[in-house]
Amino acid sequence: MNIIRSIAEMQQFSKQCQRRGQSIGFVPTMGYLHVGHEQLMKRARSENDIVVTSIFVNPLQFGPNEDFDRYPRDEQRDIEIAKRNNVDVLFLPHQAEMYPDEQGITIEVRNRTDVLCGQRREGHFNGVVTVLTKLFHLTLPTNAYFGLKDAQQLAVVDLLVSTYNFPIKLVPVPTVREPDGLAMSSRNVYLTEKERMEAPFLYQALKHGQKLIIDGEKNPVNIVKEVIDFIDSNTHGKIDYVELLSYPDLLPIDKLEGQIILALAVHFQGARLIDNLILDQEGNISEQLK
Ligand code: PAJ
Repeated sequence: MNIIRSIAEMQQFSKQCQRRGQSIGFVPTMGYLHVGHEQLMKRARSENDIVVTSIFVNPLQFGPNEDFDRYPRDEQRDIEIAKRNNVDVLFLPHQAEMYPDEQGITIEVRNRTDVLCGQRREGHFNGVVTVLTKLFHLTLPTNAYFGLKDAQQLAVVDLLVSTYNFPIKLVPVPTVREPDGLAMSSRNVYLTEKERMEAPFLYQALKHGQKLIIDGEKNPVNIVKEVIDFIDSNTHGKIDYVELLSYPDLLPIDKLEGQIILALAVHFQGARLIDNLILDQEGNISEQLK
């Protein structure tokens, strides 16, 4: 595995692959890799000639009161995990080279961000699309892999790619879960022992909502209320949101129609956790972008 830290070298490598007609599968991450990230790498490995993974804890997407400074980092362990997954290039850019000056141009996301995490984390998705614009230009992916765990992020990246005509295919990858149902996340290490025991109830709550839909409930308000009650009666977490919206447009809906997302965010003392299910109107799991 080739470790590249410089922007010039990364760009040179990608251009060379492109000239040779090799497809590039790209997996952008912020590191502290877990089985969810590995699933993205495996998928990329099976569908491309070359696999590039990046690790960059992007300061632009963290708010002033968020966890940028204490975001978990372990480069040596991440290098081993990337190697084990037959990644060809691990791109580890330096912050000083990614953001040398104050930004003279910014990208602002307007749609798909006034709900869910976008509403609570001001500027977060502007930071995500900014770093991805840079990373896409540096790695020249044929296919880029994103987890449905962060379904709103994928919807926003979809808007970025279509709006600015990036010649990239986005590949959604289903959420990888612990055996007890908790969605894998680098932030799960922050949970106390007690919170870790309660955390699987978030997935249970989503499944409860899904069951209501399967059983014929059509009113989003009733479904959301039941999910909130389920979380409140089974955890000490503080609910940030529970929402049911169209997907990937993320618009409010009066009745169940087309592809929908049932999504939640809950604050525990150790970490804020998010999870979601993307469903068709009958309540079946549907893991597509469109
Ligand atoms: P990060 O949180 O490290 O996640 C990197 C990728 O792994 C994202 O596409 C995310 O959805 C996916 N992922 C995380 N947990 C997953 C799980 N349990 N199952 C499946 N996929 C999972 O998301 C980011 O980094 C950043 O915002 C980034 C896109 C790199 C831009 O900075």
